[in-house]
Amino acid sequence: ESTLGAAAAQSGRYFGVAIASGRLNDSVYTTIANREFNSVTAENEMKIDATEPRRGQFDFTAADRVYNWAVQNGKEVRGHTLAWHSQQPDWMRNLSGGTLRQAMIDHINGVMAHYRGKIVQWDVVNEAFEDGNSGARRDSNLQRTGNDWIEVAFRTARAADPAAKLCYNDYNIENWNWAKTQAVYNMVRDFKQRGVPIDCVGFQSHFNSGSPYDSNFRTTLQSFAALGVDVAITELDVQGASPTTYANVVNDCLAVERCLGITVWGVRDTDSWRSEQTPLLFDGNGNKKAAYTSVLNAL
Ligand code: XIL
Repeated sequence: ESTLGAAAAQSGRYFGVAIASGRLNDSVYTTIANREFNSVTAENEMKIDATEPRRGQFDFTAADRVYNWAVQNGKEVRGHTLAWHSQQPDWMRNLSGGTLRQAMIDHINGVMAHYRGKIVQWDVVNEAFEDGNSGARRDSNLQRTGNDWIEVAFRTARAADPAAKLCYNDYNIENWNWAKTQAVYNMVRDFKQRGVPIDCVGFQSHFNSGSPYDSNFRTTLQSFAALGVDVAITELDVQGASPTTYANVVNDCLAVERCLGITVWGVRDTDSWRSEQTPLLFDGNGNKKAAYTSVLNAL
């Protein structure tokens, strides 16, 4: 195959990309994105601050720009993200307790209603665990509403759009030996045992010198899949774009039947949130890098 999306489709998977609405008028960008990828995640446009800038007033202008571009070009869409401590609008950052809990529920219902039946996977909850060795939940206004906020988010999401796969998404949960990975694993096992609706786990996979790729990533993916959830690589980028690391990630996903697909977090290095790390598959001129060829050959 000659594109990432078509190559991934040979095994029933997708190869996706994060799209920024502000770049959709850049024809170099859209040409690459349309040619190579068959799944789209909005980089920022479906987040809480973008979709509900004032409480109870939803704005899907930018989100729909990304969504419509994707669907008009035949791509599936991952929704990102409904409940998160970051990129909250000011009105939400200032809420707490029962009021915030209700605002979270209303937000999930409002966004999921707009896209009901149209989103393949939703990142319902993003980044709810602490880094380091504690294995604890991350402190946030949402966490302070009560430890059950995550399961409430998932139950709300299931009722709002029963067709969507509901994912928990996080970073630094790729290494099986890390406490954060084990903490998320224990949560998912508990949810499956108690019937809390969860369908998938997203591994952001922002690999860099502080959080390097480790070959036990495959064990992690296999272990989560064995709990009865799908897994996905949702925000892949690699500091320096090592072709070997990129190929290893592809091979890890392909080795796990329940690995749905891979999304890279941007098109060109210059589009990346970490552009100084030149972590992506295309350089700033839109040329394919060595990592691109490595990924294509691995798929
Ligand atoms: C990042 C975007 O790429 C940036 O443009 C934005 O300024 C901050 O958020 N984990 C996530 C993503 O789940 O939403 C983040 O995206 C990167 C880390």
